[in-house]
Amino acid sequence: MSNPKLVILISGRGSNMKAILEASKKGILNADVVAVLSNKPNAQGLVYAKAEGITTEVVDQTQFSSKEEYEDALKKCLLSYNPDLIVLAGYMRILGGEIISTFESKILNIHPSLLPEFKGLNAQKQALEAGVKEAGCTVHVVDTTLDGGPILAQEKVPVLEGDTVESLSLRILEREHSLYPNTIQNYLTKAIKE
Ligand code: GRF
Repeated sequence: MSNPKLVILISGRGSNMKAILEASKKGILNADVVAVLSNKPNAQGLVYAKAEGITTEVVDQTQFSSKEEYEDALKKCLLSYNPDLIVLAGYMRILGGEIISTFESKILNIHPSLLPEFKGLNAQKQALEAGVKEAGCTVHVVDTTLDGGPILAQEKVPVLEGDTVESLSLRILEREHSLYPNTIQNYLTKAIKE
């Protein structure tokens, strides 16, 4: 049987994307990344993906006159790869309902907080401002609620005395890089059995 096909959506740095590509190469993740898509032409992660020989595509949000047109182009692009799973890895836009229903239960996201706490932007800053002793990251299925879909896995990290947004973000990010590939693998394994 051939490996499940993943499409990764990014907007920027792409360190989670890199971790997923590495896990796939090492056989920790039994899935093939068939494409990396970005809504931003200058997303740093595209450089790495190209160098790894992965197909990359940009669906540039600024080239469309409405969110609907952009989402329609993105949906067509996603469909052209016939993915088993779509992985959001630092994709900094809210996906529209049409894409979410087309790929129901087939889109995962990673968020840098212990959801349901600190949804939305700047989750690490929110955690510091709330004065919590523990922060972390969450992998969840994407539904039409903001960072609110079914939780698949979480990792905790301590918040340390003197932490800044940068130091806390880095500590969380390190955990993201193992949590995300492992959770994708478990999710795909479960989906195959069902
Ligand atoms: C990560 O903190 C992730 O949790 C959030 O966006 C950031 C993406 O970082 N969704 P990277 O582009 O994977 O390095």
